[in-house]
Amino acid sequence: MDAPDARPRLEGKRLILGVGGGIAAYKACDLASRLAKDKAQVTAVLTASALKFVTPYAFEALTGRPCLTEQFKRIAPGESPYPHIDPAAEADLLVIAPATANLIARLAAGMADELLAALCLTARCPILICPAMNVQMWEHPATQRNVKTLGQYGYRLLGPASGNLACGMTGAGRMAEPAEIHEQIRKLMEGAPTANFPGSGAKGRVKRGKQRKRGRGGKNQAPPKSEPPSA
Ligand SMILES: Cc1cc2nc3c(=O)[nH]c(=O)nc-3n(C[C@H](O)[C@H](O)[C@H](O)COP(=O)(O)O)c2cc1C
Repeated sequence: MDAPDARPRLEGKRLILGVGGGIAAYKACDLASRLAKDKAQVTAVLTASALKFVTPYAFEALTGRPCLTEQFKRIAPGESPYPHIDPAAEADLLVIAPATANLIARLAAGMADELLAALCLTARCPILICPAMNVQMWEHPATQRNVKTLGQYGYRLLGPASGNLACGMTGAGRMAEPAEIHEQIRKLMEGAPTANFPGSGAKGRVKRGKQRKRGRGGKNQAPPKSEPPSA
């Protein structure tokens, strides 16, 4: 059991926890719990495939906040009509754990065909991806190229680790442990301004209509810090 940390180091931080449809999705529940205990405001966003592995109810119970699963939904009075934009506009960090091969490919292609991918395109906060997949999926040149592309876009990469995989194979593809991801998030958030453009010196949050104009293809994330793939 982890020693309790007296200081809630993520207090007030708004985090989006994206969960892809891999077997490691159950570990995202542990991560959500750790982040919530660290006083972060955690909004879980599950892909349609993630819903095959874990339920929104688990994340809502662990975080105390709505779990988002739909890009298109009817809104209640007072709710934002832009659910594919607003959660990311307010986030200090977006972490995807597990990031599937499929999700990584969608992000590398700049797709926005479902909520999590759309939020990643919208986000101006750091994005940390934690891949988890079969070793052959990870080692495939397509996945390696996609990960490299994400690094060029400024995404941060944590993992995958090598070891025994759920599929029975051994090699690179294990998701980083929730404790490690939690620690990485703490480091990323330490001293981080809560503005959406890291390093911009902007105070407060960027409102729709007041966002900086950016040229097409401009980098929308913090400067690249991802490590080269370990596989
Ligand atoms: C039992 C099972 C386990 C799976 N585990 C993984 C996995 O760990 N990593 C992965 O990239 N894909 C895995 N897949 C395949 C993904 O679920 C599939 O590519 C899906 O389209 C991913 O959707 P998403 O990226 O939108 O979450 C698994 C599929 C099944 C049936």
